[in-house]
Amino acid sequence: MRGLFISLEGIDGVGKTTQVARLRDYARDFGREIVVTREPGGTRLGAELRQLLLHGFDVLPRAEALMFAADRAQHVDEVIRPALERGAIVICDRYLDSSLAYQAAGRDLAVAEIRRLSMWATGGLLPERTYLLDMDPQASHARLRHGEDRMEAAGEGFQRRTRQAFLALARRDPERFRIVDAADPVETVCTAIRDDAAPLLARLRHTDPVSPNGGPTA
Ligand code: TYD
Repeated sequence: MRGLFISLEGIDGVGKTTQVARLRDYARDFGREIVVTREPGGTRLGAELRQLLLHGFDVLPRAEALMFAADRAQHVDEVIRPALERGAIVICDRYLDSSLAYQAAGRDLAVAEIRRLSMWATGGLLPERTYLLDMDPQASHARLRHGEDRMEAAGEGFQRRTRQAFLALARRDPERFRIVDAADPVETVCTAIRDDAAPLLARLRHTDPVSPNGGPTA
C-alpha cells in the first residue's frame, strides 16, 4: 500500500477526537493528502448505521457486531483502501480493534469470531500503527461533554472490560500498537503520538505515492 494507515482507539471519553485533529495538523508537514475518518459513520451507509447503533433502540449483541462490521466493510472499500492507494495518510478514529474490545469483551461474544468477522469485512486490512489511548473508565466517563449514547450508557463494568480488552490486544501485538497514557495533559499525549509517528510519516517523503510498489523515488 502506498499510503499510511493509522488508527486511534480507546474507551469513550479518552480524548481521541482531539488527538486525531492534532495528528492531522502535524501530518500536514509531510506533503501527502490526509484523510481523517471515523467508525462508525465514515460513509453514507455508515452515517445511517451510526444513528441506529448509537441513538436507536436496543440492538442484540450479534446484530450489533454485524452492523459495526457492515459499517467497516463499506468504509474500507469506499474510503480507506482507495485513499491508501492514492498514497494518502489515513487517520481513523476507531477501527477493527473497537469491535474486538466492545463487541467481544464488552458484549461477551467470542473474540475469535469477531476477529474473523472483522477481517472478512475488511479483506484483512490492518493499520500500520494503532495508538491506544488508555485511561481509567471512571475518569474518562467524567470527561464526556455530551449526553450518553447507547454504548456509553452500557455501564462502568462494560467500560472496564472494554479497557482491559484493548490493553490485551495491544500487548498481543506490540509491533502495531502503542499504548499512550490518556490521563496525561493533552500536550503530553500529543507529543507522545507525534514522536512515534514522525518516522512513519518521514518515510513517506522518500517514497513515491504513485509508483506501483510505493518504492523509493529515483
Ligand atoms: P465514538 O465515535 O468514539 O463516540 P463519540 O462520538 O461519543 O466520541 O464511538 C461510538 C461508539 O461506538 C463508542 O461507544 C464505541 C462504539 N463502537 C463499538 O462498540 N464497536 C465498534 O466496532 C466501533 C467502531 C465503535
